[in-house]
Amino acid sequence: MKNPVIKMVFLQLILIGYGIGVRSVDQEYEKILDEQPYRSAFHFQPPKNWMNDPNGPMLYNGVYHLFYQYNPYAAIWGNISWGHSVSYNLVDWIHLEPALDPTEKYDINGCWSGSATLLAGESKPVILYTGSDFLGQQVQNLAMPKDLSDPLLREWLKSSHNPLMLPVEGIDPDFFRDPTTAWQGPDGSWRVLVGSQVGGHGCALLYRSRDFVKWERASGPLHESNKTAMWECPDFYPVGDDGRYVLKASFNDHDYYVLGSYDAETDEFGVVGVDFMDDVVQLRYDYGVFYASKTFYDDARKRRVLWGWVTEADSEADDVERGWSGLMSFPRSVLLDEDQKQLIQWPIEEVEELRGEKVALENKEIESGNVLEIGGITASQADVEVSFRVPNLEAVEVIDGGLLDPQMLCRQKNASVEGVFGPFGLLVLASDDLTEQTAVFFRVFRQNEKHVVLMCSDQSRSSLQTRVKEAIFGSFLDVDLDQEISLRTLVDHSIVESFGGKGKSCITSRVYPKLAIHNNSHVHAFNNGSKSVMISRLEAWSMSRARLVQVHTRRKPSFS
Ligand code: FRU
Repeated sequence: MKNPVIKMVFLQLILIGYGIGVRSVDQEYEKILDEQPYRSAFHFQPPKNWMNDPNGPMLYNGVYHLFYQYNPYAAIWGNISWGHSVSYNLVDWIHLEPALDPTEKYDINGCWSGSATLLAGESKPVILYTGSDFLGQQVQNLAMPKDLSDPLLREWLKSSHNPLMLPVEGIDPDFFRDPTTAWQGPDGSWRVLVGSQVGGHGCALLYRSRDFVKWERASGPLHESNKTAMWECPDFYPVGDDGRYVLKASFNDHDYYVLGSYDAETDEFGVVGVDFMDDVVQLRYDYGVFYASKTFYDDARKRRVLWGWVTEADSEADDVERGWSGLMSFPRSVLLDEDQKQLIQWPIEEVEELRGEKVALENKEIESGNVLEIGGITASQADVEVSFRVPNLEAVEVIDGGLLDPQMLCRQKNASVEGVFGPFGLLVLASDDLTEQTAVFFRVFRQNEKHVVLMCSDQSRSSLQTRVKEAIFGSFLDVDLDQEISLRTLVDHSIVESFGGKGKSCITSRVYPKLAIHNNSHVHAFNNGSKSVMISRLEAWSMSRARLVQVHTRRKPSFS
């Protein structure tokens, strides 16, 4: 059964056979989307209420599991449980009841973030998560499935040995959380990292265990930084074929990563390249709204998949009124770039299952000050890929030497500030008269005899009424200007997820247009530079909605 839609239907029939209540929420969802223009059609979100970090993603017995920080009762953070959804293709989802609720002394104030590990030759999934205990201290706990023969692993049991790790010996009980997926060393012992702050420095504490129950803290952290405070949600994994490792930490509202080498015998990690916050230009998964991410290894497709939490960018009162808060980024595959200096991220190929009507064009010049509407697709729910060519680079703008902050440059030179080559790119979620628009664009400069490409996402005109928290995001794009500058943007009602240079820089924005919703939304290519640029190729697709199913056994269904 290769087709995931058939699999979904088949699974529903099995569940009904077991007497488990199931409903396809397609029709209800259609109605909700009409009434609520900001709900996503193909980005993951629970049916309602608050969601933050992705937790414990894994593939087990052919089923993808995504857990997430979830408040079952409200659209604001609190009562944190582990929401649980499953999928056959990482696109269509079956929403289940929470897998972990705060019920015990060691997690009564919340079942916070954590990760899944497959034990016993990949046959036994377990979860390590942070409990906020009865004293409000952070401790690490273990949970395992109640019934391994349940294809959805709906019920989870907490270990009688909990809590397994306590904030002792210099660890601040407020700074001890978010265990990673564990890995086994050559000595057979398991290793896990826990995010922390010791002596004011962010760090990833290392623990070892032979039986996954008794954990011992290593004499030093795997890595630390005196330029950051608390590291939330660390992640650590191999990438590429040459023994490189990625260490990611979440702080200052962003997910930063470093590349390095790791000695599995001694557990020594050494950064290759720029360390956390050592330079104004940092390696981040995403230069927009994207936090507390987590990866997992998808053994079926031999790839690493990344999920990130994409927060709302308007007010808490707006969240409460809508009845929900938080989306996930579209799952991205993560690879090492050829130059081994950074990662490449790209929406997993399953997204293409949702592509519908297509428009395409080639070799089209956009002159200075022009916009070109890309008609014929549903612009509020679309996948757009475009490649630009910048002819005759002699005329390029020169900027002074010294370190440049891309974020600041994008702020100073927003989408309406004319340059020479650029701003050019896409205007998405644009109203008829363009008074509302979200611009994702490039500018090309020369600095110190080298070309520099800036990528920006400008939300400053995204809505006539709702101001978003951060109006403009920016990043440098490490591309060769002899080649094309490519941009792919996934537009999904209130999320604009953009991949520049085939995934070298990603910027995710949240926007809340008032006019540019549903069929009143448009997408354009534009050029506000003084010189023409060429679109060498553009392809754009309408996207269908992901299929959703709601399973309800223990709690009331969420859509009532
Ligand atoms: C990150 C985070 C984690 C914590 C969780 C609580 O967003 O603060 O460090 O475990 O959220 O919901």
